[in-house]
Amino acid sequence: MNNDSSSRIATRLREWIANAAPGSKLPSTRSLVAEFQASPVTVQKALQTLTARGLIESRPGVGTFVRAVRSARPSDYGWQTAALRSPLAALPTASTAMRDVANDAISFHSGYPDRELLPERLVRAALTRAARGDAALSRPPAAGMPELQSWFAHELGASTPAGTTPPNPSDVVVLPGSQSGLSSIFSALAGRGQPLLMESPTYWGAILAAAQAGVRVVPVPSGPDGPDPAELARAFDETGARLFYAQPNYANPTGAQWAAGRGDEVLEVVRAKGAFLVEDDWAHDFGITTSPVPVASRDDSGHVVYLRSLTKSVSPAIRIAAVIARGPARERILGDRAAESMYVSGLLQAAALDVVTQPGWQTHLRSLRHQLQSRRDLLVTSMREHAPQAHIEHVPKGGLNLWARLPDGTDLDRLARDCESDGVIIAAGRAWFPAEPAGAYIRLNYSGSNPGAFPEGARIIGQAIDRNGT
Ligand SMILES: Cc1ncc(COP(=O)(O)O)c(C=O)c1O
Repeated sequence: MNNDSSSRIATRLREWIANAAPGSKLPSTRSLVAEFQASPVTVQKALQTLTARGLIESRPGVGTFVRAVRSARPSDYGWQTAALRSPLAALPTASTAMRDVANDAISFHSGYPDRELLPERLVRAALTRAARGDAALSRPPAAGMPELQSWFAHELGASTPAGTTPPNPSDVVVLPGSQSGLSSIFSALAGRGQPLLMESPTYWGAILAAAQAGVRVVPVPSGPDGPDPAELARAFDETGARLFYAQPNYANPTGAQWAAGRGDEVLEVVRAKGAFLVEDDWAHDFGITTSPVPVASRDDSGHVVYLRSLTKSVSPAIRIAAVIARGPARERILGDRAAESMYVSGLLQAAALDVVTQPGWQTHLRSLRHQLQSRRDLLVTSMREHAPQAHIEHVPKGGLNLWARLPDGTDLDRLARDCESDGVIIAAGRAWFPAEPAGAYIRLNYSGSNPGAFPEGARIIGQAIDRNGT
């Protein structure tokens, strides 16, 4: 399917619709195919776009029609204000990182890697095999397919040092993405009204999950080497928290990887306080110049609750992750998962396992490392050349993002709007701070589409920063 021609057709049809009376019938798909010299799939895609925008509606067996503009009275949901009262916490809205944008935009905002960075051939073959197997018609155990539990346990166990007991497959709970794991962990291990320590800045989705779970977020500053253990200990003492959420490897948004030894220091603090470290290893497959060693691999005392996701490295459509936890904590998390969704689709679990156990998976990861390196380097060079006012404090050793500090006083909303009007989409850094932002930051993802446009994107950002300062 050709996206360009489907958007060309959608644009032409939109012009036609603008001049047509509500209820007018669109030409048949067959005549649109002939008129635009496009395939039926491409025409359908254009029609779907217009349907999604509410411009047309299709009546099966009759045809497709221009939608009548409704003049019905606006709905009144005011009664819900009385029924619901105030939310327990101000709920953050979803971040810019989840926005869909036009195909031709230069997009630095997304949290997801471009399709060309995914193992497409492995994914398609795995889905075909999964569809033919038992998984397509059966219900897997609540904690996950045993073979997939073993794979996750083995992955973490591979970096476990001698003298530490590696995790058991039965410590693993398979998840439909690690986001749902964050919600379960925060609810099951902290609970409403309880404090939760978090690195700051940190992943906006973790801030969102914490708000929905009703826990009280307490930010702990974290830099390129990770949090200061003394500061962390103080935060535990001050708040009585029992949970610290952190990303020791290639943190989203900063790309920081904790300094050697920092994991052990943090682990010591967490143990001394009788607390848990929730280690989010979302970027395990995105090392560039280093390879990540999870802090969890050095813990066999149940103090680390470890999250590993395959969503971004296998496919966002095969959204599989796992939490590895030991003891009663694991039972609590499993209980929350059961209440939430009972079990994870076996079809997706089988497909994920198939992908990561193919010999091609390791080949894919090696090539991904090189591609991420050249994309990261291109964006760093482009920003330094064309937008030197955006200070890149630290070039990440892995992950998908650059974190850039802008001059104090930069109006981020205006900057984002200016960039967007010139076709560049950026994410303002505010969403990654659990409390007030420590400065004006933007997050730039270098794994999006069309890296060839990075220099042009950087030039537009540089100009917008200049305009913002005047
Ligand atoms: C740090 C971090 N944790 C968790 C997630 C959620 O991962 P998943 O898609 O597996 O739910 C993301 C996604 O952006 C992330 O950046």
